[in-house]
Amino acid sequence: EGQEVPPSLKWSFAGPVGKFDRGSLQRGLKVYKEVCSSCHGLSYIAFRNLADAGGPGYSAAQAAAFASEYKVKDGPNDQGDMFERAGRPADYFPSPFPNDNAARAANGGALPPDLSLITKARSYPRGFPMFLVDFFTQFQEQGPDYVAGLLQGYEDNPPAGFALPEGSYYNKYFPGHAIKMPKPLSDGQVTYDDGSPATVAQYSKDVTTFLMWAAEPHMEARKRLGLQVFVFLILLTGLLYFTKKKIWADAH
Ligand code: HEM
Repeated sequence: EGQEVPPSLKWSFAGPVGKFDRGSLQRGLKVYKEVCSSCHGLSYIAFRNLADAGGPGYSAAQAAAFASEYKVKDGPNDQGDMFERAGRPADYFPSPFPNDNAARAANGGALPPDLSLITKARSYPRGFPMFLVDFFTQFQEQGPDYVAGLLQGYEDNPPAGFALPEGSYYNKYFPGHAIKMPKPLSDGQVTYDDGSPATVAQYSKDVTTFLMWAAEPHMEARKRLGLQVFVFLILLTGLLYFTKKKIWADAH
């Protein structure tokens, strides 16, 4: 079975000066909330992060209002009981299942991975030493291309001769092609209020942009600093050159 390579998309966050598209981040959050969050967690992101610089661009009040739409487990209280309350900015996105066993039981034995770092985890062949990933991230977009491709890679009819196991779905970009995630997106499923097309292609791109931000919320600051370091090094090179000329001016 040949592995198809997902198409390379144009990402606003690509390259040394790339930035996140705020509209895409906001739409992607909506797709995550309305679709993905029923099976996948996003446990490294807190509601307050939605108001952080370099993110979706919400105000602190908007992030708090968003948090309050969630029910969060808390406790034990003075009586020793667990209880539910409205979400607060400091809470992290709640996970849909109490533990991995419950998550597997609800998904035909497959564990829906936490999506916080998925765009990084799928940047390289599985087993690739992850400490190298941060270094190379700036120069590649394989992770987001894979996630966006995966969401659009379902096919109703597997190629002739492919034996699809019971409870699996055919996806041309998933390694081995038999995935236990049912096709999560279809046209018109999520309502956009900014006029962007309500299509699987657009949903995929937006939710992937959102997940890329979730995996690297400080990307914009990192790239800005990187550029400043380059400018500084160029200026320093010039200064050192003229210093050297001056110091060695009388040397014979
Ligand atoms: C796996 C993304 C919605 C259930 C995955 C993977 C990604 C992903 C990136 C990992 C694939 C890999 O291992 O390479 C998303 C996104 C969603 C979404 C972005 C929303 C648009 C859902 C929903 C369900 C679900 C609604 C449950 C009905 C699963 C399961 C797996 C999985 C069970 C594990 C599949 C396997 O290992 O065979 N998802 N997902 N996902 N997802 Fe989703």
